[in-house]
Amino acid sequence: MADGSWYDADIDRVIISEEQIKEKIAELAQKVAADHADAEGGILLVCVLKGAVMFMADFARALGHYGPSTEMEFMAVSSYGQGRTSSGVVRILKDLDRDITGRHVVIVEDIVDSGLTLSWLMKYLESRSPETVDVVALFRKPDAVKVQVPVKYVGFDIPNEFVVGYGLDFAERYREVPYVGVLKPEVYARS
Ligand code: XMP
Ligand code: MG
Repeated sequence: MADGSWYDADIDRVIISEEQIKEKIAELAQKVAADHADAEGGILLVCVLKGAVMFMADFARALGHYGPSTEMEFMAVSSYGQGRTSSGVVRILKDLDRDITGRHVVIVEDIVDSGLTLSWLMKYLESRSPETVDVVALFRKPDAVKVQVPVKYVGFDIPNEFVVGYGLDFAERYREVPYVGVLKPEVYARS
């Protein structure tokens, strides 16, 4: 086995450690569980692919310790905008597989930046007559305050820098990094 991981040389610095993520997820799960203790039918988690996949997996298992029961749905959306900022116009690449009428929905998001994607998604889900819709986001960037998206549960407020790891990618890579960090400038230069 190799001494280090392939990505070690590419990471400039760690922003949030693996241990911090683990502790925070347990905390978030306790809060969501407490607020949904009487949720009829349990919680319907809606994961927004692909970035939230690690968070979904760990958050669902943490929720399992505190209850109530959960079910998982996955959506994939894409912003019509060009470049790295979203336009707020969203295209559905993968829709829900089931009816969410009367359900207690919790959207599981990786990171809220402009908040435009999330704001669109909340309206979309609310139009399908769920009983409640809440959002849990592991990371939030400073711009998120500009758009009024009610993100009820937030893990970490992070600086306005592009980050990778724990599901977050740069050109589809670094999702498997167990912590969240910033890439060295030369990584962008060589792509
Ligand atoms: P908005 O701006 O609509 O978009 O809130 C949020 C989505 O943008 C992506 N995003 C990032 N992805 N590192 C990433 O890998 C980042 O630092 C970052 N900031 C935003 C992400 O897909 C999120 O769902
Ligand atoms: Mg991405």
